[in-house]
Amino acid sequence: MTTYITTPIYYVNAMPHIGHAYTTIIADTYSRFRRLCGDEVRFQTGTDEHGEKIVQAAEGEGVTPREYVDRISDSFRQTWPSLDIAPDYFIRTTDADHIKVVQDILQKVYDQGDIYFSEYSGHYCKGCERFLTEKELVDGKCPDHQTVPEEVSEQNYFFRMSKYQDWLIDHIKSNPEYITPERYRNEVLSFLSEPLEDLCISRPCSRLTWGIPLPFDENFVTYVWFDALINYLTGIGYPEGPDFEKYWSVAEHVIAKDILKPHAIYWPTMLQSMGVAPYKRLHVHGYWNVDETKMSKSIGNVVRPGELVEKYGVDTVRYFLLREMSFGRDSSFSTEALESRRNSDLANDVGNLFSRALTMLAKYADSIVPEIDKATVTDEDRVLVDALENMVADYTTAMNAFEFHKALQSIWEVIGMLNRFIVTNAPWELAKNPDQAGRLNTVLYFLADSLRLLALVLRPVMPTAADKMAAALGQEEELAKATLEEEGCWGRMPAGTMLHQGDALFPRLEKKKKQQTQAQGKEQGKKGKAKKKEAAPDTTEGDMEGLITFEQFGKVELRVAEIVTAEKIKKANKLLKLTVKAPEERTLVAGIAKHYSPEELIGRKVIIVANLKPAKLMGITSQGMVLAAKEVDADGNERLVLSTVAGDIAVGSRVS
Ligand code: ME8
Ligand code: MG
Repeated sequence: MTTYITTPIYYVNAMPHIGHAYTTIIADTYSRFRRLCGDEVRFQTGTDEHGEKIVQAAEGEGVTPREYVDRISDSFRQTWPSLDIAPDYFIRTTDADHIKVVQDILQKVYDQGDIYFSEYSGHYCKGCERFLTEKELVDGKCPDHQTVPEEVSEQNYFFRMSKYQDWLIDHIKSNPEYITPERYRNEVLSFLSEPLEDLCISRPCSRLTWGIPLPFDENFVTYVWFDALINYLTGIGYPEGPDFEKYWSVAEHVIAKDILKPHAIYWPTMLQSMGVAPYKRLHVHGYWNVDETKMSKSIGNVVRPGELVEKYGVDTVRYFLLREMSFGRDSSFSTEALESRRNSDLANDVGNLFSRALTMLAKYADSIVPEIDKATVTDEDRVLVDALENMVADYTTAMNAFEFHKALQSIWEVIGMLNRFIVTNAPWELAKNPDQAGRLNTVLYFLADSLRLLALVLRPVMPTAADKMAAALGQEEELAKATLEEEGCWGRMPAGTMLHQGDALFPRLEKKKKQQTQAQGKEQGKKGKAKKKEAAPDTTEGDMEGLITFEQFGKVELRVAEIVTAEKIKKANKLLKLTVKAPEERTLVAGIAKHYSPEELIGRKVIIVANLKPAKLMGITSQGMVLAAKEVDADGNERLVLSTVAGDIAVGSRVS
């Protein structure tokens, strides 16, 4: 099979921001996913360089349009590799072959009578680069750009768009997948329920010269949208290039809702007029806002992808954008949301799973994938296998439907299962008992093969991280050329594979210093007040031979907490640094390093003292204390066992 996926070609009047990055990451992820399905893929992006607003932007910088478009187009081209975006072709509307094709198409459409000359007056929005209808205006302004459109009245050439209205309605109605998600399909059909006007496709040279000259009238240049949409054809060699037929029949466009009308109405009618089949699918996503407000230069809240990549790494940025937005709906960007997904979904969930599993494979199997011991496979293992294979199926369906957030959710469900699988199977216990050697191997094999599957399905979303995973699993070559069909099932990890425990995939981001000191200040403030109130009863009732009152006990706040990370502390062989959820995240230092290894702690529920005054140990502020029971034998050897709860109960529950 073949796939042809495109992004809009972006106007070069502004530098790339996360909105452009999102659309382009979507197209890149989809193209990598279809390659994983075995397709031959063509992924195209580029820049839209003609039109009034480009001229205006160049004038603003005091350079010629040519110099200006070269510079900004280049910055788009340079931005994509840093986001692991790898288009097969980058098109510019100032390319000579594109200009020729646009002129040929205009001539053809003109010759067959679909273009005529007429007088027109209307409301032109430069931001949109199109005439807005009376109905589209809100209080006389363009609702997208909040500007009053220019009243333009001039003689121009028109494309008989209205002629194709009935055909278009019929095409959309009989192809439910043509425009998705459905809300946008409905929006287009509702717009088409009113008579369609013809499309003005020229600008007089007296007003604009920065455009493609009309082949049949040198006094006019081509309207920028008529020029721009054709990029989707010229980039694959229309009309006679060898790849044209192959890719055009499967063309899929990704856009945001701002340019729905040109793509859902102008473009299919243009294609119909020039005798080219309609594209296959149009995928429409919503808008990224920033902290709930519209991103705009004047507000100064434009988020640049380059800065995010530098701070958080490319995988975190790609993962966040795809996971946070439900394709089709608007979403709000904030660094808090990004940091929280990084720490919880990436560092805690998938990062921990990899490092724990690889540590145990190193410890108990010398980093060589063991052979499964069939006799020890349990029903629960089979449930896990089903879950993994169902995940691959759900993931595939969701990715094909452009429901990236759902695809990721289904992956994260099995990541959760695998983290629980480690806790319930406790390899560190199995390792203590030679009779359990077979079972230990089975558990370790399950882990290794599950990691392989995760590296496979995560590859389209996080190519760099997936490469690291593949390297750690000794599966670099295998996974680089793998297809989902062949490798997307259980049990493909060869026993005997050498593993390499690399660096942490997603190191936790430490909380910003400022926030932490503020939070501590607040807590200490509270404690200070509490202390004053405490003072009186403490002295009067404190002398009853070690007994405390209900009231005194009530002041100790015990809570159920789940351990999400555990690590050794340098130069402190008794201490471990823990991150727990209780339910908020906090850091604790616990003197249990001699009794528990970090990897066996993750996922456990323990009891903590939640309102202990923060204390500094080895430079780390411990915000509470973990409870454990201590046993000392006759020789003075200590054994520590963590206190826990006897049944499943929500993290943060108060113990009293
Ligand atoms: O419209 N959220 O170019 P453009 C999400 N040249 N996506 C956003 C976004 C946001 N806040 N802001 C921009 C044009 N985008 C024409 C296209 S195609 C033949 C010609 C993304 O530079 C989104 O993909 O204004 C949107 O459709 C596109 O950038 C608009 O880019
Ligand atoms: Mg725009």
